[in-house]
Amino acid sequence: MNAAEKAYNVIKKKIDGAETALILGSGLGALADEAKNRKEIFYEKIPGFAKSKVPGHSGKLISGTIASRKVIIMSGRIHYYEGHPMAKLVLMIEVLAKMGVKKLIVTNAGGAVNRSFKVPSLMLISDHINMIGDNPLIGGAHFIDLSDAYDAEYRKMVKAEAKKLKIQINEGVYLAFSGPSYETKAEIRMVRTLGGDAVGMSTVPEVITAKKLGMTVIGISCMTNYACGVTGQPLSHKEVIESGKMISCDFIRLIKSILSSKKF
Ligand code: HPA
Repeated sequence: MNAAEKAYNVIKKKIDGAETALILGSGLGALADEAKNRKEIFYEKIPGFAKSKVPGHSGKLISGTIASRKVIIMSGRIHYYEGHPMAKLVLMIEVLAKMGVKKLIVTNAGGAVNRSFKVPSLMLISDHINMIGDNPLIGGAHFIDLSDAYDAEYRKMVKAEAKKLKIQINEGVYLAFSGPSYETKAEIRMVRTLGGDAVGMSTVPEVITAKKLGMTVIGISCMTNYACGVTGQPLSHKEVIESGKMISCDFIRLIKSILSSKKF
């Protein structure tokens, strides 16, 4: 039995399967409280899983219904910078595929590199740049196509839903570094030159694995702070969590609206 099968055998007894899954990033856990008929399992109870030690991240897998849609919610994720190997980071995604997940909404907190973005605000991820320095598919010859990693049709739908709700959402490229230190001013200048609009320390490994497993992906990044050097203010994780809470209301409204869209 491989690691994903072992984890799946424990999880399937505790929570329900679904076609749609959500991964909730730093400070965005409040959405999980909206799930009706919820069933949950703590990551510690799942073989091969680990709970993030980062404040603002819970560690539960939840099934339930939001906006009449059955969902599985990963409330909290582990990160590469916590010292976990890629295989452990993406085990969740492999298990979600076994639970029947075909559509994945990934969310995170990120720093705004694009000067036209407001903070806090939401950014729909149009594409990513992987500068973590590792790839979850190493070890196999998985030459998967990532040309539509963040589904173009779904992006149109998300923008239309945001417009209906009068929530301003920018679209842009998410660049992931390993962290855990925040970037330097020079690195943020480089990100801008490379075409990045936001920086973060997660999401990319999960999306690469989701694409390998044939899922369609929506990515939403909450701009919780201006990236290093944009305003001259020092960066702090406290600010990231507080901004996440400030944008949480819009974030929840938008996700509910996506989940109730016929185009999703
Ligand atoms: N940099 C990297 N990761 C982040 C940031 C940032 O500025 N804000 C939230 N996550």
